[in-house]
Amino acid sequence: DNRLSKKILVVAGDGIGPEIVAEAIKVLNALQADGAIDVTLEDALVGGAAYDAVGNPLPEETLVKARASDAVLLGAVGGPQWESLHISKRPERGLLGLRAELGLFANLRPAVLYPQLAAASTLKPEIVAGLDIMIVRELTGDIYFGQPRGVETLPSGERRGINTMVYTESEVERICRVAFDIAMKRGKKVCSVDKANVLECTEMWREVATKTAAEYPEISLSHMYVDNAAMQLVRAPKQFDVMVTGNIFGDILSDCAAMLTGSIGMLPSASLNEKGQGMYEPIHGSAPDIAGRGVANPLATILSVGMMLRYSLDAPEAADRIDAAVFKVLDQGLRTADIMSEGMRQVGTAEMGDAVVAA
Ligand code: NAI
Ligand code: MG
Repeated sequence: DNRLSKKILVVAGDGIGPEIVAEAIKVLNALQADGAIDVTLEDALVGGAAYDAVGNPLPEETLVKARASDAVLLGAVGGPQWESLHISKRPERGLLGLRAELGLFANLRPAVLYPQLAAASTLKPEIVAGLDIMIVRELTGDIYFGQPRGVETLPSGERRGINTMVYTESEVERICRVAFDIAMKRGKKVCSVDKANVLECTEMWREVATKTAAEYPEISLSHMYVDNAAMQLVRAPKQFDVMVTGNIFGDILSDCAAMLTGSIGMLPSASLNEKGQGMYEPIHGSAPDIAGRGVANPLATILSVGMMLRYSLDAPEAADRIDAAVFKVLDQGLRTADIMSEGMRQVGTAEMGDAVVAA
C-alpha cells in the first residue's frame, strides 16, 4: 500500500552535497530493505546546481515537490563560482526560500561530543566530555526578516543600513513550546537566551517564555543574556541541556556550540514546521575545498537522516539504529580525514557510508 509510504525529497545541492547525500541514501535504502521504514525518494534541484540548470536557485518544481513531501533531505548549497551573483540568485536563496516556503520555524541543532572524538575539541576533555546540548533556534523571524530593512541614502549622501528585530508573542510561544517538548524527553532544563537588558523585543521574549513555561511545571526554565551565554558555552558548556533563542542569537550560538565538539562533519540539524514536516541537513556547507575528492565526512548527513526518522517520519527505532551504527563505526576506529587521529583508520566518504550500513 503506497499511501503508507513516506515521501522524502532529496536535494543534494552543491560541492560535497551529492557525495554525502549518496551515503545517507545508502543508509535509508538499507533500512528500507530491512523493512524498518517505508519511504519513497524523489530528487530535486536547489542552490547553485539549480541556478546552473534553470537560472533559479529555487525552481518552482522543487517547491511543489517539497510541499508534497513528508521530509526534505538537503546536502549543502553554495560555492565560489556563484559568489558574484546578485543576492536574489545566490544558492543560499534556495535554502532560505525552502525554509520560508515550508514555514520551518524551529531549527534543532544538537551539539553532541562523541567520547571517541573527545580529543577533537579545542577545549579540555574534562570541560566537554559527555557534552549533549540541544539548541532550538527560531528560524522565521527576527532581524533577518523584520521591516524596515535595506540601505538608504541620506540627504547628506551618506548611506544608512537598516535591519529590524521583530517577534510576535505567538512566534515566541511557538518556539518555546518546541523547546519545552524536547526538554521533557531529555534533562527537563531549558535556558532561554535573550538580550532583555537592552532590546525591548527580547524583553518581551523573556516574558512570553516565562508565561509559556508555567504550563510545563516539570521544566526548569532559566534565562541568560546572549553575551553571557556565549561565554558560558565555552566556560562550562555542560551546564546546558536545551537552549532556546531567536534567529540571530541562535545562528551564532549554535555555531559556537557546534565547535565545542571539534568536528563540523559530525553535526546534523532539523528544521520543522507546525505540521511536523521538516528539512534535515548537516550544519556544514558545501566544502568546495574538498568537493569531488571522496574525502568528506558523511556522518553529519547520516545523523540528519536519523533526526528525520525521529522528528518527521515517526520511526524512532530506526533513528536509534542509525545513532547506534554511527557510534559503532567510531568505536571501530574508522575516521574520515576531518576527524582523523593517531592510531585510527582513515577512510573515504563511501567507505564510511558502507561501514554505517554494515553496522
Ligand atoms: P563549509 O562548512 O563548507 O566548510 C568549512 C570547512 O569545514 C572547510 O575546510 C571544509 O572542507 C570543512 N568541512 C565541511 N564539511 C565537511 C565534511 N562533511 N567533511 C569534512 N570536512 C568538512 O563552510 P564554508 O567554507 O564557509 O562555506 C563553503 C560554501 O558553503 C559557501 O558557499 C557557503 O555559502 C556554503 N554554506 C552552505 C551552507 C548550507 O548549505 N547549509 C552552510 C554553510 C555554508
Ligand atoms: Mg550559521
